Amino acid sequence: QPRIFSGIQPSGGLTLGNYLGAIRRFVDMQEENADRGIETLYCMVDQHAITVWQDPAALTRNTRELAAGYIAAGLDPNKSILFNQSQVAAHAQLAWIFNCVARMGWMQRMTQWKDKAGKNQQNASLGLFAYPALMAADILIYHATHVPVGEDQKQHVELTRDIAIKFNHDFGVDFFPVPEPVIEGAATRVMSLRDGARKMSKSDPSDMARINMTDDADAIASKIRKARTDPDALPSEAEGLAERPEARNLVNIYAALSDRSIAEVLTEVGGKQFSEFKPMLSELAVAKLAPISSEMARLMETPDEIDAILRNGADRARTIAAPVLKKTYEIVGMIGA
Ligand code: TYM
Repeated sequence: QPRIFSGIQPSGGLTLGNYLGAIRRFVDMQEENADRGIETLYCMVDQHAITVWQDPAALTRNTRELAAGYIAAGLDPNKSILFNQSQVAAHAQLAWIFNCVARMGWMQRMTQWKDKAGKNQQNASLGLFAYPALMAADILIYHATHVPVGEDQKQHVELTRDIAIKFNHDFGVDFFPVPEPVIEGAATRVMSLRDGARKMSKSDPSDMARINMTDDADAIASKIRKARTDPDALPSEAEGLAERPEARNLVNIYAALSDRSIAEVLTEVGGKQFSEFKPMLSELAVAKLAPISSEMARLMETPDEIDAILRNGADRARTIAAPVLKKTYEIVGMIGA
C-alpha cells in the first residue's frame, strides 16, 4: 500500500526553493492521492531543526509559520495529515533503534553533515550527526513508500533505504518498505540569487540570496533586480544556458512559476536582456507568492487554530505509527511493546 511522507525543518522562514522544490509537490501529491485512499503525511520536523541552535521563541513561531505556509499553499488538513514531529514520540523511539542499525561511516559520508558541521566537527551536536537516522525513522514509522523532496535530500532518502534494507536483513524480516525519493518538477534545485553554484537556502547569511515566502512585492522586486547575472541577452534555446548558472536559475524559476518548460519560456524571452526579463520575473513571482503570503499572515493571526490542526494531525499520525513501533520492538526482542 503506497503512502507518502515528507517534512520541512522549521529552522527559519520558508524560501522559494522550499515552495517550488517541496511544498508545491506535496500539494500535487495530495491532490493525486486523496481520493484514492492513499495517505499523505506532511510534518514540521522541529526535532531536526534543533540539531543546530534554535532560539525557543523563534522555533515556536517558525513551526506555526511553516504550518501556515503548508495550508496557505494548498495542503488541506482534511486530505493530508499535518503535524509536528515532536508531538509523535514514535519518531524518536524508532530513531534510537536506527541509531543502532546505521553505521558511523554512513553518516560521515553525508554531504549535509559535512557542510553543516564544517571544519569543527568536534563541536557539532551529536544530533546533527545522527540526523539521517531520525529522518529514516520519520519515513519508516509510517511505512511510507514515496518521499517528495528537492534534489538536496536525495542522499538522505538513499540512506533511509540502506537503513530499511539493513534492518530487514539483520533481523531476517521483510518489515520495512524501501522508500523511493520523488524528485520531480521543474525546480528540484533552486539556486541562490547571489551565486549560481549554491542552492537557495533559509540558512544563507545573506537575505538577498533568497526569496522568502513572506517577502513583500518590493523586497521580491529588489532581490530579483539585484540578482547576479551575466551581461549577455537570454538565449533562445536551453543549450545556451549550459554555462550560465545564474541565467539558468532565473529562467528555471520563471518556468516553474508559470508551469512551463524552459524551452517554452525561452521561445518567449530568448533575445531579451536581463533589464527586460527581471521585471517580468518579479511580476510573476509576486503574482504567485502574494496570495500565499497574505493567507499565511491571516492564519498566523489565530495561532490556536494552527495548534489545533497540528494536534489533530498528530493524533492521526500516532494511530498509524503505534502498531509499526510495537511490531519493531517485537522484532528486536524488546519486552513490553
Ligand atoms: P529542508 O527543511 O532543508 O527543506 C525542505 C524541503 O525543501 C527542499 N528544498 C529545495 N528544493 C529546491 N531548491 C532548493 N533551493 C531547496 N531548498 C530546500 C528540500 O529538498 C526539502 O524537500 N532533511 C530534510 C527534512 C526532513 C525530511 C524528513 C524530508 C526531515 N525528515 C523526512 C523528507 C522526509 C530537510 O532538511 O529539508
